[in-house]
Amino acid sequence: MFSTTLLSLLTVAATANAACTPPRNAATAAVECPIVFEGRVGVDAQLADFDSYDTSLFNAEYVKGENLQWSEIIQFPEAENAHFDDETHKPFEVTISDDSIFQTQKGFRRAGLQFLEDTNTGSPGSTGVKTIHFSLRIDPQRALNLSHEYLLVWREAADYSSNQFNFETGAVLGQASLPKDTYKVLDRQNKEIWSTPILEDSWQNFAVTLDHDQNTLQVYYSAGDEPLESVTEAVSNDNSGEGQFQIGMLKKPTGTDDVVNSGYQESGIDEGLIYGSLFVEDSADGCVSV
Ligand SMILES: *[C@@H]1O[C@H](CO)[C@@H](O)[C@H](O)[C@H]1NC(C)=O
Repeated sequence: MFSTTLLSLLTVAATANAACTPPRNAATAAVECPIVFEGRVGVDAQLADFDSYDTSLFNAEYVKGENLQWSEIIQFPEAENAHFDDETHKPFEVTISDDSIFQTQKGFRRAGLQFLEDTNTGSPGSTGVKTIHFSLRIDPQRALNLSHEYLLVWREAADYSSNQFNFETGAVLGQASLPKDTYKVLDRQNKEIWSTPILEDSWQNFAVTLDHDQNTLQVYYSAGDEPLESVTEAVSNDNSGEGQFQIGMLKKPTGTDDVVNSGYQESGIDEGLIYGSLFVEDSADGCVSV
């Protein structure tokens, strides 16, 4: 009798505890430049907030499987906060499944977030000097299959014919000499300009600066709580053609020349990647938060 009562008391206590928002560590790094697009998710955000333009930081309808809501795609993992996330933010996970088929694109499995105000034409992301920041952490429960090519963060030109840059992982189609198990930045010509190994148990922090006046691209990186450091020069890149950032996952098929519409994808996919400290800042006058 006593132990039953104690047990139920303990259960009540545990339930009450779980209902509280867990404490989050404070930011280890401050954002020092004006924010153009905010993608750091609030600590009190609910999954359903991603389904409505009133409550999401992102486009509520794109780019995802037609039959899925963002609240079915996003998860809130138990990870610590990333580099630029303070106690008002929390990380989120983007997942893909067999249902992650956008419109008629049967070759891809994809779920890509777009910042609410990053319109395909006339976006502030397409002028001046802008830096996109994002941190990544793997989810061992939802491992990617690195025999495939995955776009993770990219900027697609307004006419959808090419991407100004791709941040990727996995086996890049047609470039078998590149190792699979790295994160890599490809320029507009799909040439790798930088890569780093995937860490198992740490946040990895990335930034890509696009200079629309000089037509250059520069990559910054750090692991864990370390400040970002530039890992490339400002290399020449064709940043023209406007367009939008996309953040999440686009998994290409294998065994086809028509990656959009055909090719092989295994069934039973349950894959995910954890994102944090996501935002775009104005890097006019060389301002880049580290
Ligand atoms: C990974 O992808 C390759 C190529 O499509 C496929 O042959 C293999 O079965 C996949 N592995 C798993 C564990 O799904």
